Amino acid sequence: MILFYVIWFYLVTLCLWMGKASGCNCHGKSEDLNSKGEYVGGGVCVGCTKNTAGVNCQTCADGYYRPTGSRGGCVTCHCNSSGSKSFDCDKSAQCRCQPGVTGPKCDRCAPGHFNFQEGGCTRNK
Ligand SMILES: *[C@@H]1O[C@H](CO)[C@@H](O)[C@H](O)[C@H]1NC(C)=O
Repeated sequence: MILFYVIWFYLVTLCLWMGKASGCNCHGKSEDLNSKGEYVGGGVCVGCTKNTAGVNCQTCADGYYRPTGSRGGCVTCHCNSSGSKSFDCDKSAQCRCQPGVTGPKCDRCAPGHFNFQEGGCTRNK
């Protein structure tokens, strides 16, 4: 229990020392202030920016991904709306393709398939 307080005190001191009592937990992408400028704190970030999401802006919003190794914001997936199952992609920007569709953005037919359209490509006969 004492250790907990020591760590907590250390973190608070560190935040104050850095001149950033708020926003400390938000990965630099939000503020611990709500839209009225009131301090809400509690480690919950309000209004994540740079397309981030999550309680502490630690994840990406739908349709965005964080490039591997990047400590910055999230970038758009650019998934092809016809060839993808969702707007979401993984860390390597790979979208989730419809059946018979391939490519990072799911914008072309996989080998052995043709007729790119909403919902996927048709398998060759
Ligand atoms: C999706 O991919 C198809 C086939 O490459 C292309 O014709 C279409 O314009 C793309 N749609 C969007 C929204 O980019």
